[in-house]
Amino acid sequence: MKNEILNTRFVKITLSSPKNGAQYDKISIRPVILKGQDYIQAERFKESKVFHLNVEKTEFGNFLDETLPFYTQICVFTVGKTITFFVGKGKIKRSESKNDLKGDVNLSNNREKEYILKEGENIPALVDLGVFTQEFKVVKSKYDKYKQINRFVELIDDECGKIEKDQITILDFGCGKSYLTFIVYYYFSIVKGKNVKIIGYDLKKDVVLNCNKIAKKYGYKNLEFVVADVKKDVLYDKEIDVVISLHACDTATDYALYYALEKGVKNIFSVPCCQHEINLSIKKGGEMDALLKYGIIKERVSALLTDAIRAMILEDMGYKVDVIEFVDLAHSPKNLMIRAKKVRGEKRVNAPEIEKLQKAYGFTQTLFSLVNKKG
Ligand SMILES: C[S@@+](CC[C@H](N)C(=O)[O-])C[C@H]1O[C@@H](n2cnc3c(N)ncnc32)[C@H](O)[C@@H]1O
Repeated sequence: MKNEILNTRFVKITLSSPKNGAQYDKISIRPVILKGQDYIQAERFKESKVFHLNVEKTEFGNFLDETLPFYTQICVFTVGKTITFFVGKGKIKRSESKNDLKGDVNLSNNREKEYILKEGENIPALVDLGVFTQEFKVVKSKYDKYKQINRFVELIDDECGKIEKDQITILDFGCGKSYLTFIVYYYFSIVKGKNVKIIGYDLKKDVVLNCNKIAKKYGYKNLEFVVADVKKDVLYDKEIDVVISLHACDTATDYALYYALEKGVKNIFSVPCCQHEINLSIKKGGEMDALLKYGIIKERVSALLTDAIRAMILEDMGYKVDVIEFVDLAHSPKNLMIRAKKVRGEKRVNAPEIEKLQKAYGFTQTLFSLVNKKG
């Protein structure tokens, strides 16, 4: 049985019906690519928890030697065929049936980037969060969110995927139901095998409680959610590598950016939302008055001005900044991402353009006030 498994290009293997002494109730095994290398990933289920183990391909035989003796039903799924082994007293019964699995199962095949979080991937936390169905299909109403978190992870990976540190620490401001937080953790910790620590902050106690429950269920021990008002509460203040925020409401985004600036965080990925502050405080006062005449235009201009000011401040404070459309407008009307990477040491705001605009139009802008307050 072991040799047949080793010589089979499988999509998935399940070990079930445990014998006495088995450590796990069930094990699900599949090939994955981590840091460009082929691995076999074992998801080991115990009661309601899941524990992941990444096994080097060369070690897979040993892994089978240690694991197979504890299970009496072994199913090997290949494209088109399922092989089942029933282990009885001293006998193994083998049977084959057809299946309709499709896909490339070549273990040494480099998967394309879009496969990282592809639909159908066994990401059980996304089922708990209501993004995937039990069959790991995207829930229709969550398709836009799925697109957003997928793209967000890709952008983080482009910038931070090669960070070689013992631990990468990421803070998520206004994590809400934490689709993004979970997927960032899953991708870096499970898929890429990195040691990541992620803390998600949100005001809502019930969502934080639920997220911690799900993290515990899947054994995501370095993923934590904390009830906090990011505008005033004490947050994690040791070394932080990345700050993220996706649609953190209004000025919560400013506090996320300010926190990152204060801590000298190297990478920032922030998708702002509900930029009400300037819209509510701006007054006519200069050459831009025509843009303030009609409500909807004023609202949009105010939002753009808010994000332009945020980007300029980050640039002043030593960051290389891009403002990009991180997903198509069809997937979110709030689709601008401020992506910033610290490239210079100096910490100083020298923003005559912002001051000039503020003087003329009388608006308030929280990030600008915060950095000025510090001098
Ligand atoms: C629109 S939701 C976005 C949630 C999540 N990031 C996402 O994209 O699915 C904004 C979240 O920010 C949280 N939030 C707003 N102000 C906050 C504050 N001052 N401190 C912490 N969380 C805040 C809200 O409770 C809410 O869950």
